[in-house]
Amino acid sequence: MAKIRDPLGHHDWNSPDYVSDWAERQDERERDRQEPFRLMAETIPYDKKAAMKILDLGAGYGALTQFLLQHFSNATAVCQDGSEEMAKLGGERMDDLKGRFSYILCDFSKQGWSRKLKGPFEAIVSSIAIHNVRTPDIIQRMYKELFPMVKPGGCFLNFDRTSPPLEDQMEWLKDAGFKEVKCFWKGGSRALFGGFRK
Ligand SMILES: C[S@@+](CC[C@H](N)C(=O)[O-])C[C@H]1O[C@@H](n2cnc3c(N)ncnc32)[C@H](O)[C@@H]1O
Repeated sequence: MAKIRDPLGHHDWNSPDYVSDWAERQDERERDRQEPFRLMAETIPYDKKAAMKILDLGAGYGALTQFLLQHFSNATAVCQDGSEEMAKLGGERMDDLKGRFSYILCDFSKQGWSRKLKGPFEAIVSSIAIHNVRTPDIIQRMYKELFPMVKPGGCFLNFDRTSPPLEDQMEWLKDAGFKEVKCFWKGGSRALFGGFRK
């Protein structure tokens, strides 16, 4: 797979050293996002025992996937990411959940990215990943591409930086077809927002 790149050059998700340093720094801050993760789990409109399929976009080493698979005891997850290094780390870190998740490598900024992912999914989620695309038009296109992958009755929930602005992103979700689009949590420059497919 071609390497993913950060258009601003802030991150090198392809580098083993960069990824392992990032993960180590993130470990110290993991506690700070337990509240939005919990809220996300509670907003997903399915019972805790539902045998549901979750797609985690830009899953990284799987912090959100891990949280959701513990909350939804019969769920399985597809962890999408563009970094082989992150996928490798996720496989190691989620060893105790083996069999309930798999990684798919693709670049979500490239049109057609969803073809590699076998949907539909009851819940598509993401954490601190989509802002890496940086270009508003591409993020808007991503939201359009992911809508048909959400099962009717399901949802898309994104915990991310509010850049591009939250109001714009919520409009793009409505344009893509999502209903009841709203912001469920806000803290500093991060927000949990999303909508439902009826
Ligand atoms: C800040 S990390 C967040 C990881 C994880 N979601 C979390 O919250 O711990 C961003 C992730 O997005 C992935 N990513 C960035 N740009 C991407 C792209 N264009 N396509 C797929 N994944 C991408 C990176 O490889 C990285 O794993």
